[in-house]
Amino acid sequence: MNDSVVNWDGKVSTDWDKALAKRTQRMTSSIIRETLKMMSTPGLISLGGGMPAPELLPVREFQEASHYVLEHDGPQALQYSVTEGYPPLKQYLLAKMQKYGVPAEEKNILIVNGSQQALSLVGKVFLNPGDTVLTDCPTYLGAIQAWNSYEARFVTVPLDDDGTRVDLLEDVLKREPVKFIYCLPNFHNPAGVTLSLERRRKLVDLAARYGVFIVEDDPYGELRFVGEDITPVVVLHKENTVYLSTFSKTLSPGIRLGWIVAPAKVIGKLVQAKQAADLHTSVFVQMIANDICQRGFLRQHIKRIRDTYRERCAVMLSAMEKYFPSGVKWTRPQGGLFLWVMLPEGINSMELLKAGLEEKVAFIPGTAFYPDGVSGQDALRLTFSTAKPEMIEEGIKRLGKAMKKQLAEAR
Ligand SMILES: Cc1ncc(COP(=O)(O)O)c(C=O)c1O
Repeated sequence: MNDSVVNWDGKVSTDWDKALAKRTQRMTSSIIRETLKMMSTPGLISLGGGMPAPELLPVREFQEASHYVLEHDGPQALQYSVTEGYPPLKQYLLAKMQKYGVPAEEKNILIVNGSQQALSLVGKVFLNPGDTVLTDCPTYLGAIQAWNSYEARFVTVPLDDDGTRVDLLEDVLKREPVKFIYCLPNFHNPAGVTLSLERRRKLVDLAARYGVFIVEDDPYGELRFVGEDITPVVVLHKENTVYLSTFSKTLSPGIRLGWIVAPAKVIGKLVQAKQAADLHTSVFVQMIANDICQRGFLRQHIKRIRDTYRERCAVMLSAMEKYFPSGVKWTRPQGGLFLWVMLPEGINSMELLKAGLEEKVAFIPGTAFYPDGVSGQDALRLTFSTAKPEMIEEGIKRLGKAMKKQLAEAR
C-alpha cells in the first residue's frame, strides 16, 4: 500500500500509508464474504458460507411480531435506547443462561449486534497491540479478523476429535503471557468437533492456575442433533469467562442480534466500548426478537432446525463415503453447521477450490481458518445447513470429481 492513488474525484492523490492508521494494514476481507458473493453464479452449489437453511427463517413470525411491536410500543421501538440492551430481552436471556447453570444477573449481560460485534468489542477491551491470544488451529476466521485489527499475536494449539488439544496448553501458558484463551466448545467452526467435558475441566483448571481469561464462543450450542449437551465452560469457570452467543443460527443472522455474559467489571467496559461504536443495538429488532421468544416459538423451531441439520449432515457424510477418493478424511459433527475435511497429499485446497468452481461447487479452503494464513492447505470446511439434501449429494459428487482430477494431475 505504498503507492499514491488517485482519489475518487480524480483531482487529489493520497499517500494511503500516511492517511490511514497502521492497524488497517492488518485488516483483511474474509474469504467467506468473498465466497458469498459467488453464490449468485447460476447453477453453483455452495457448501461454503455458514448460512442457516433459508426455508427455516421464520418470516411470518417476524412479520407478526413487527406488526405487534409497532402497534403496542411504536414510539419506544423507534426511539434511542440504552446501550446494555432492552430489559425484557435481557431478562429472557438471563433465564435461559440460568437454565444452563450460569447465575448471571442484569449487570452481567450486554446485548450486541451479533457475536461478531462481541468479538470486536472483546478485542477493544482486552487487547493492547502485540498481546497474545491463544486459539485453536483451525479457528473461527471472524475472530482472527476482529483481533488482527487490534494487532493481536496468535499462538495456537491443534484440535482432534475431542476438540482443543488441552494437553498442549500448559506448555504455551508457561512459555508466554497469554491475554485470553479463545474456545469454541460446541460444534466448532470450522472443525465441527466438540470439546469433551474432561477437557473443559482441564481447560478451566489451567486458566484458573495461570490467571487467564477464557472467551467462550457458543453460537451453535442449541443445535445439537446427536448425543447429550455438555456443561458450558462458563458454568465451570464463571469468574473469568466471557461467554458469547447469538440468535443468528436459531432465529436469523440478518437481524444481527447476540449477547455477552461476563463478570460485571468486564461488561461495564464492554458497554463503554459499544457506546463509542454504535450507542446501542436496534431496540426495534430487540423488541421483535423478544416478542417472538416470549411467545415460546423458539423451542419448537430449534427442534425443526436440529431435525433438518441432522438429516443434511447424514446425507453429506454418506455422499462423502460414496464420492470422495480414498485418503480423504473428515470429522463427524454432533451438531452445528460444519464439518472439516482433511485432504491427502496431492490435493491443495486453494487449487481444489478453482477446480471445484469449474464443476460449480464451492467450499471454504482451510487456510482461511489459520491465523498465519498459510497453514491448512490440506483441509477445507463444508457446510451442510444451507443446501437441500439432493443438492448436498450433487455438490459432494462434483467435489469428489474435482478431487479425483487433482489427484490424477498430481500423479
Ligand atoms: C464461531 C462463530 N462466532 C461468531 C460468529 C458470528 O456470529 P453473528 O452472526 O452472531 O455475528 C459466527 C458466525 O458464523 C461463528 O461461527
